Amino acid sequence: MPTLSCAAMPGQVKTGEQVYQTICSACHRDGVAHAPKVGDRAAWSKLIAEKQVELTADAWAGTRAMPPKGGATDLSLREFGGAVAYMASQSGADWQAPDDAMMVRIRAAARGALDKKIRQAQAMRRELDASPIVVKGGKSPAQ
Ligand code: HEC
Repeated sequence: MPTLSCAAMPGQVKTGEQVYQTICSACHRDGVAHAPKVGDRAAWSKLIAEKQVELTADAWAGTRAMPPKGGATDLSLREFGGAVAYMASQSGADWQAPDDAMMVRIRAAARGALDKKIRQAQAMRRELDASPIVVKGGKSPAQ
């Protein structure tokens, strides 16, 4: 198969390396905001121990300082998963881009990770609703 650049394959699934180079390397090459650096085996060993399915799902949903989807809103879960596999494999693991069977498990884990975030957001919303601001002499603003 000939080597094609990203720009030459519109609509096609990007490889993990392409996704890493175009998106993830912005933080994971130099360790911006303490992002685990690709190639730093010590930093990655505990992530790799989390296992491919769980790590991919949690990172995709966003965890601590890692933004959901790495901030790339048009990235598919499969492409994201390929990038995680590439990054981990550059850092001590031997992970392949997820096949269909693994994608089913990643999707299930990703739903779980999102559900947890939804519950957190609902709790914050209840907190807001429980403490309305009443403006003196005026109408209470929409909450
Ligand atoms: C804007 C910066 C930024 C970009 C872009 C970014 N990451 Fe991250 N990533 C982080 C940071 C910061 C952390 C560390 C999170 C923490 O531990 O607080 C992280 C952590 C991770 C982790 C480990 C998650 C865990 O459970 O600790 C994975 C996997 C990951 N990123 C994958 C990716 C992939 C794949 C991409 C590209 C699609 C990407 N990141 C793009 C900042 C970024």
